[in-house]
Amino acid sequence: MVNKNLIPFSPPRIDNLIIKEVTDALQSGWITTGPRTKLFEKKIAEYCNVSNVLAVNSWTTGAELLLYWFGVKEGDEVIVPVYTYCATANIVRHRGAKVIMVDVRSDFGIDISKIEAAITPKTKAIIPVDVGGLPIKYDKLNELVNREDIMNKFKPESANQAKLGRIMILSDAAHSFGAKYKGINIGSQVDFTVFSFHAVKNLTTAEGGAICINLPKPFSNNEVYKHLNTLSLHGQNKDALAKTQKGNWEYDVVDAGFKCNMTDVLAAIGLVELGRYETETLPKRKEVFEKYTTALSKYDWAITPVFKDSFRESSYHLYLLRIKNCSMEQRNAIIQEIFKEDVSVNVHYKPLPLLSYYKSLNYNMADYPEALALWENEISLPVFYDITEEQINRVIKGVVNSVNKILN
Ligand SMILES: Cc1ncc(COP(=O)(O)O)c(C=O)c1O
Repeated sequence: MVNKNLIPFSPPRIDNLIIKEVTDALQSGWITTGPRTKLFEKKIAEYCNVSNVLAVNSWTTGAELLLYWFGVKEGDEVIVPVYTYCATANIVRHRGAKVIMVDVRSDFGIDISKIEAAITPKTKAIIPVDVGGLPIKYDKLNELVNREDIMNKFKPESANQAKLGRIMILSDAAHSFGAKYKGINIGSQVDFTVFSFHAVKNLTTAEGGAICINLPKPFSNNEVYKHLNTLSLHGQNKDALAKTQKGNWEYDVVDAGFKCNMTDVLAAIGLVELGRYETETLPKRKEVFEKYTTALSKYDWAITPVFKDSFRESSYHLYLLRIKNCSMEQRNAIIQEIFKEDVSVNVHYKPLPLLSYYKSLNYNMADYPEALALWENEISLPVFYDITEEQINRVIKGVVNSVNKILN
C-alpha cells in the first residue's frame, strides 16, 4: 500500500505543461531525434555559454562516447574522485582503462593538490565531479593540465590526443546544471562538461544528458559536434530525419559508433524544464537549502553543506548534511529513525572502494581518509520542486528528533 504521508526524496515535477508538450511531441508525427532535440541543444548551448551542445540519452553514454572519441583504451589511466557515483568510474572500465582514484576535500570535490602525484605518462583524462551541484575549482585544474612539465609527460596515442596535446578534462556535471562559476552558468570552463537529466536530477528528461563542447583551438567545436553526433548514431552519416527527405535514402557508416541519441519525446520534457529553470526550479531549491541550513545550523552536531562562496554557487542539487562525532552505525540508526517519521533520506555516496566490484580490483578505502570521514556521517535530505513548507518543517523535525534520540 502506498504511504501518502511519506515525504519522497526527489520526485520529478510533472504537471500539465509537461504532459501537454509530451503529447504534442507524440502527436507531431516525429518522436525520435528531430526538431525538439535540436532546439533543446541550442537552448542549452545559450544557457551554458558554449557554441555546441550534443543531447544524449544519459550522462553515462555521453561521457563514454567522449572517452572513445579521445581514444582512451586498455593500458591508459583516467583520474576520478573516490567520492562519486559509480558511473564516473564505470565508463573508464568500459573502455578497458584503469581507474585512478584521488581523495576529496571537505566540500566533497576532488582534492586538486593530490592529482599531480596521480598523473603518469599513461594518464589520458581527468573526470572531476561537482558533487551535490557545487562546482570544483576548474581554474586550478586547467592550470595543472596546461603546465609545461605535466604536458611534457603526456604521451599522445590518437589524432585527437595529439591535437589537444595534454590531458583532457571531462567534467562530471551530472549534478550541477545551472551552477555558477565566477558568475556564469557552468559549461564553458573545461574541455567537455556533461550533464545528467535522469529522473531525480534538477532538470529532467526522464533519462538523458547533454555534452557541452568547449575545446581549445585548433579544434573546431562545430566539427567536433558533427563528429560526436555521427558517433552517437552508430557512426551513420545521416540521421533518421535527414533520411526522410525525398530521395535521400542512402547513407554510409564511418565508424562503429554508439547509439545514444536523445529523442524528441524526452526533449519535450527538457524544453519545458529549461524554460522555467532559472525562474522557478533554482529559486525553489535554493529556498529549501536555506531553510534547512537556517534551522539545522543552530545545532552543534550539524555540519551543513557549502552552497555558495566567493567564486561559485551550487545548483542546489543534493543537501549533503553531516553529523559531527557520529559513527557509521549511529548514522545508519539515525536514518532508520528518520524513516520512522515518514521522511525519505539517502546517502551520497558510498565511496568507490567500498563497492564489491572496485574492492575486487584491490582499491582500499584506508587510502582515502577524507572520503571515509565524509561518508561515515553523511545524510542527504529531500529537495524537490513540489515540497511544501509543512513538509520542510517535518524533515527538520524528523532529523533533529532522530539525531537527539541516537546521539544522546
Ligand atoms: C555523479 C554522477 N555521475 C554520473 C551519473 C550518471 O548519470 P546517468 O544516469 O544520466 O547516466 C550520476 C547519476 O546519478 C551521478 O550522480
